[in-house]
Amino acid sequence: AIERTFSIVKPDAVAKNVIGQIYNRFETAGLTIIASKMVHLSKEQAEGFYAEHSERPFFGALVEFMTSGPVMVQVLEGEGAVLKNREIMGATNPAEALAGTLRADYANSIDENAVHGSDAVESAAREIAYFFTNEEVCPRTR
Ligand code: CMP
Repeated sequence: AIERTFSIVKPDAVAKNVIGQIYNRFETAGLTIIASKMVHLSKEQAEGFYAEHSERPFFGALVEFMTSGPVMVQVLEGEGAVLKNREIMGATNPAEALAGTLRADYANSIDENAVHGSDAVESAAREIAYFFTNEEVCPRTR
């Protein structure tokens, strides 16, 4: 099925100047970018986005990192977009990520792991709505 997923190019990857290389991976894999913007998250925005992790021991470091510099947020659309994006990203821990995945190529560590991607269609819908209005999502017309 054609799905939408939510993606973040995290502060470490933006700082490495590889936004375009990461977008190229999405497009080469057949995913279409239908919304995109650069944002420097506030502490409140980052805490809200990662609320499900608020009791985890890494939550403070996660929020600190995600607010350390600008990020790119985007909506990717395509056949099986949620799983396809997770395959492109590779494992959360770059030490476990397969060769040729974004995390293997660009992540520094499990904390600074270059990209985020939704884990399911339901979380994708919630995450897209957290960052984008309906008007900001622009499906192709040609
Ligand atoms: P992300 O997909 O953005 O969702 C939560 C983030 O927490 C995750 O990527 C990792 O970068 C970070 N994190 C740090 N430690 C862990 C851990 N032990 N398990 C899962 N995520 C972790």
